[in-house]
Amino acid sequence: MNDKFMNTYKRTGLVFESGCGATLKATDGTEYVDFTAGIGVNSLGHGHAKLVAAISKQAAAAIHVSNYFLTEVSIAFAEELTAISGYDKVFFCNSGAEANEGLIKIARKYGSSKKEGKNVIVTLKGSFHGRTITTVTATGQDKLHQFFGPFTPGFAYVEPNDIKALDAALGPNVCAFLFEPIQGEGGVRPLDAVYLQAAAKLCSERDILLAADEVQSGVGRTGAFFACEQLGVKPDITSVAKGLAGGVPVGAVLARGPCADVLAPGDHGTTFGGNPLAAAAARVVLAELTSPGFYAEVKRKGRKIVDAVESWKNPLVKDIRGMGLMRGIGVTIPPGDVVVAARAHKLLVLTAGEDTVRLLPPLVITDAELDKGLAALKITLDELAFKR
Ligand SMILES: Cc1ncc(COP(=O)(O)O)c(C=O)c1O
Repeated sequence: MNDKFMNTYKRTGLVFESGCGATLKATDGTEYVDFTAGIGVNSLGHGHAKLVAAISKQAAAAIHVSNYFLTEVSIAFAEELTAISGYDKVFFCNSGAEANEGLIKIARKYGSSKKEGKNVIVTLKGSFHGRTITTVTATGQDKLHQFFGPFTPGFAYVEPNDIKALDAALGPNVCAFLFEPIQGEGGVRPLDAVYLQAAAKLCSERDILLAADEVQSGVGRTGAFFACEQLGVKPDITSVAKGLAGGVPVGAVLARGPCADVLAPGDHGTTFGGNPLAAAAARVVLAELTSPGFYAEVKRKGRKIVDAVESWKNPLVKDIRGMGLMRGIGVTIPPGDVVVAARAHKLLVLTAGEDTVRLLPPLVITDAELDKGLAALKITLDELAFKR
């Protein structure tokens, strides 16, 4: 194990050298089925020919140009992303946390233009919004609110799917309600559609921005461009990142209506955000996503996972949640035990929350790769059940 990295991750000791589709190859030659996609990032899998070609071509043309200027590729990216997402304007950045920082700044400037002190953001318990001081404060998990204080003031937390609690929390000083349509890190827990639609109504009546964090659930992951579409709401503002450029770092804040025009020159910025390299990569992802039948395939493959897991009737499995290819398997043992045991069967999976094994395979995973990974997961769970 290399000791030059800060101790921020419980690393596995695996060192990877290359990948193809949903398969990752370690330096010792062992191949693993990848049900993690770099935590929902490699939407087109590894070594995707069109993505590699676009990145190589763009690298030769211009990797980076400052955000004082536009490039043809960044213009095309902005036009395509706003058209596909149905938003008016976009701010590009580099990561999910940075997208949420931008979203929070827009919400606060919007709120304070309406009424002094209208700057509180209500978020949900169990949420995850990032690792910066402000996004970690937005995150509704006490265990993450230690060591790094003082934290940013102006956040309040409510239980998900409790409309009465939200109604009470959305007071006159609230500028935005920020939520993940499916809590990812918190355990792959979708919000109830009826709750979310009622929340949207409350926000619109009180001039509070409905703000979605689709960093993990967005960009086709659930079988639609946004998970919110499947829950029947259209937020005023949405953050995306992870899968947007298939592995090249990029994030985006998408806004419509009045909040699209809140920022003025000097209010906000970023050096790298949406640079030509990221834009070229993202354009390939957007083109693939909007090709005929793509979302139907994501949904079909997601259903296949659910059907398989349910058919096993493994005693360790409590339930299976999520949408499309964002799935969480509730287990009665520490989910980390499943992650470790699956590696022995050449399968990579993730945890989420206290009791969930999370599956985020590349959106382009083939049926053969899916079958191989599911077979490995079945053996893993069978063995773990047998040992208990
Ligand atoms: C819903 C959500 N928001 C924000 C983030 C933070 O994204 P990043 O790690 O790119 O800063 C994540 C990361 O897991 C996430 O799942």
